[in-house]
Amino acid sequence: MPMGKEELMKRLEERIRNCRKCPLWELRTNPVPGAGSYDAEVMFVGEAPGYWEDQKGLPFVGRAGKVLDELLAGIGLRREEVYITNIVKCRPPNNRDPTEEEIRACSPYLDMQIDIIRPRLIVPLGRHSMRYILAKFGFRVEPISRVHGKTFEARTLFGKVTIIPTYHPAAALYKPPVMEELKKDFARIGALMKRTR
Ligand code: URA
Ligand code: SF4
Repeated sequence: MPMGKEELMKRLEERIRNCRKCPLWELRTNPVPGAGSYDAEVMFVGEAPGYWEDQKGLPFVGRAGKVLDELLAGIGLRREEVYITNIVKCRPPNNRDPTEEEIRACSPYLDMQIDIIRPRLIVPLGRHSMRYILAKFGFRVEPISRVHGKTFEARTLFGKVTIIPTYHPAAALYKPPVMEELKKDFARIGALMKRTR
């Protein structure tokens, strides 16, 4: 019998916990593989763990996580029914941006998570995640200010997947207008999920 999602993800998480493919492993307290439902219809993909994520081994549990929770609640979604992860699974020092090398080393884990979960919708959070996801599915990368809230339809081996990029929730912490844009983009996400249910 083929392996179920649960077992595939547990094995993958174990690999991430033992990973030393890029220098970030040396500084991490805990790697952050991701969290949520393996049957999620929607996957949210952030950038990299921050201080609290590294402490707890869980994604989006700091201040940006509070914003994400608020946005999810706004469209009637609970964390337990979505899947949340990042392109890079270990915390970059001083929360600097992940490098191209780190993204290249780590992104195969994200690719595998997408293949296991087979979501119908992927929401890249922020410019790094947007760039990686759009390029992965063959779309032209444009500035986040231009692509946020737009719908991209991709074909995959497991069927159709919709991508709606949006801003990183942390950006809303110091730029209130970004929160308004995030809310609008999340309203689209909510509407699309109702339609496909
Ligand atoms: N920012 C991210 O991009 N990911 C997290 O998990 C937390 C903050
Ligand atoms: Fe491995 Fe990714 Fe952590 Fe680098 S960031 S050590 S590639 S899990």
